[in-house]
Amino acid sequence: MISPPVAKEISIAPMMERTDRHCRYFHRLLAPDVRLYTEMVVAQAVIKGDRQKLLRFDPVESPLALQLGGSDPALLAKAARIGEQWGYDEINLNIGCPSDRVQSGRFGACLMAEPEIVAASVNAMGEVVSIPVTVKTRIGIDDHDEYEYLAHFIETVAAAGCTMFIVHARKAILKGLLSPKENRSIPPLHYDVVYRLRQEFPELRIVINGGVRTTLDAKLHLKEVEGVMIGRQAYSDPYWLTELQGLLLPVGAKWKAPSRESIVKQMAEYAGRELSSGTRLHHISRHMLGLYSGQPGARAWRRFLSEGAVNPDSGPEILLESLRH
Ligand SMILES: Cc1cc2nc3c(=O)[nH]c(=O)nc-3n(C[C@H](O)[C@H](O)[C@H](O)COP(=O)(O)O)c2cc1C
Repeated sequence: MISPPVAKEISIAPMMERTDRHCRYFHRLLAPDVRLYTEMVVAQAVIKGDRQKLLRFDPVESPLALQLGGSDPALLAKAARIGEQWGYDEINLNIGCPSDRVQSGRFGACLMAEPEIVAASVNAMGEVVSIPVTVKTRIGIDDHDEYEYLAHFIETVAAAGCTMFIVHARKAILKGLLSPKENRSIPPLHYDVVYRLRQEFPELRIVINGGVRTTLDAKLHLKEVEGVMIGRQAYSDPYWLTELQGLLLPVGAKWKAPSRESIVKQMAEYAGRELSSGTRLHHISRHMLGLYSGQPGARAWRRFLSEGAVNPDSGPEILLESLRH
């Protein structure tokens, strides 16, 4: 069974080195119903690596998707099965990431050139799990940048059972000198291409991603497609998540946003629990530096927190003290 969730949705994008379990716990306090994604985990690592380290999460993080990287259907199926057993709500396959390391292992955006492999992977995963298997992709890669190519890719993968696609509305340039960072800003955004997919594949759930920075942007996209996925802006201004939660129907209508201060206090309690099992404060607090973004005193808060938390002996009281700034 590979059926997707039904209501319109807002999600926070998978981001390596960012959306780890501490970040997701923090985001969950800010927005109880946005969908969260892990950083990409390579299928092989899920199978052979330290699962406790790679897969562990707090139940409050749900709804939570495990993002996998890989191109071997059998390995992906094994990893997806393990993900389901660990309690994830969705398995997402990364077909959008342009980094070199990822190209050499044949995962990520380069697989847009091989729709049959992606389809076989989706099919293999769908056969062994009962949670939704979804795909995150770009609108094209290199010379494969016409709509017809994208439509063929989507059609092929959908035929294997994927009914939800998250589409980053810019192509990836792999045969160039663009860094992964440049590949997230230089190729232009073409939201119209994603909207067209929605029109031409009405049976699929299409989630749009790329460059969404304001509540108005999100609202406009939600009129056209089933969901919006937000990465960088949500990370740098996390309190914005409380506003995004308000857009989610029907839960948003009754939503009362928590204050920043109450979030910090809850994070101090979380840090207290985590530090007793060996986590360093900095690993938690680094995700919180943008909490006061745009507010008076934001810079002092950021400085106090980043300087205070690097000391290996720092405890959760640093978070509470930071409120004075
Ligand atoms: C630091 C960083 C790490 C990322 N890591 C991943 C990843 O692991 N998997 C993935 O599919 N996309 C990854 N992305 C891409 C984002 O998921 C998203 O597609 C991209 O940032 C565009 O959305 P935005 O404009 O809202 O940030 C990453 C982006 C950033 C900034």
